[in-house]
Amino acid sequence: MRVPFFDLKRQYEQIGPEAERRVCEVMRSGQYVEGPAVKEFERRMAEYLSVKHVVTCGNGTDALRIALQAAGVGDGDEVITTAFSFFATAEAIAQAGAVPVFADIDRESFNIDPEDVKRKLTSKTKAILPVHIFGIPADMDELNQIAQERGLAVIEDACQAVGASYRGKKTGTLGTAGCFSFYPTKNLGAFGDGGMITTNDDAIAESCRAIKAHAAGRPGALTYQRLSGEALPELAELTESGDSLYDPCKYYNYMIGANSRLDSMQAAVLLEKLGYLDGYNQKRKQIAEAYTGQLEGLPVTAPKTDVEDRESCWHQYAVLTEYKEELISYLGERGVGAGVFYPVPLHLQKAFRKLGYREGDLPVSEEICKKSVCLPMFPELTAEETTYVTDTIKQFFAERKGL
Ligand SMILES: Cc1ncc(COP(=O)(O)O)c(C=O)c1O
Repeated sequence: MRVPFFDLKRQYEQIGPEAERRVCEVMRSGQYVEGPAVKEFERRMAEYLSVKHVVTCGNGTDALRIALQAAGVGDGDEVITTAFSFFATAEAIAQAGAVPVFADIDRESFNIDPEDVKRKLTSKTKAILPVHIFGIPADMDELNQIAQERGLAVIEDACQAVGASYRGKKTGTLGTAGCFSFYPTKNLGAFGDGGMITTNDDAIAESCRAIKAHAAGRPGALTYQRLSGEALPELAELTESGDSLYDPCKYYNYMIGANSRLDSMQAAVLLEKLGYLDGYNQKRKQIAEAYTGQLEGLPVTAPKTDVEDRESCWHQYAVLTEYKEELISYLGERGVGAGVFYPVPLHLQKAFRKLGYREGDLPVSEEICKKSVCLPMFPELTAEETTYVTDTIKQFFAERKGL
């Protein structure tokens, strides 16, 4: 039997005809950029997450960078984040002109450890950037408390956590702003790139809308004024929209922003898939429960599937083992795909060599990177396939014992 790590075609078989119909509608409409499909998606997403504003953009990396800038993060500021995430988390901090300061993680949830965040605070700290890694909600109450006491922003990286919840609220709506990715392999994946920022703060939302469109016209001027504290006398003469192709205000820019838009065709695909999201996440949970049950008694640490006040959306299912490399090869030889998230903790990435971190600085993140193996996880996996995966793992350990 072959069990792929991920298979996007299976989902396409289910939603293909409707998604194609919606995409064709966009093609016929002639409104390809920021058109009705994008507006409708922003409205539906705000409803789904129970959040006031949704600002779509080009991808999750842009979402992070734009949200940081809108929260006033810039040159010389420090942003405390986890060392256990995809590179984009810290890359976006650097793109915003700030310095990522890495904190260690909790061994069970793989998420940023609030106690280590406290140790990393300095007078330059401007924001905390937790990641709901693998879909598991981070300790938001503790992090918000730290931030509140010091007037810091909390930017949630919810790129792997659409539909997860913490104490009854959806991840991405718990801090100053939430950032999401619609990369095809995400829980809610487009047929290409996409992203969004969520917030309940009117000023942050307006600033994100301005920054994602080159900080042009009146929205750009207002954002610059808000972030810099410098009054712009020309503001009175700038028109409200800055949107129209022929509006000259559009060609006056006030900050270095971005060109970051969710494509209308991707919005059409996402609108179709959003209707299935809760069902998909439920399926992932069932798969996680099956894995954890079947792995009981083996010398691997399997994730808990029942954690008080937290509902993971099971973006990944990671087990910990001393025999990571051997297990991955063994599974691969028997047709089972396994993922390695993440081989290198962010503080040891070469790109951040200038920050001067050394091996041993963040021991838990380093240990998890050495031990984590992600098993196949997508809603269309069958019970037969998950059983084959765990049977193969059982066989691996049975053979090891025999050696
Ligand atoms: C935790 C995390 N942050 C940020 C990103 C960046 O998202 P994108 O690839 O859409 O730029 C991703 C996904 O790729 C991610 O997994």
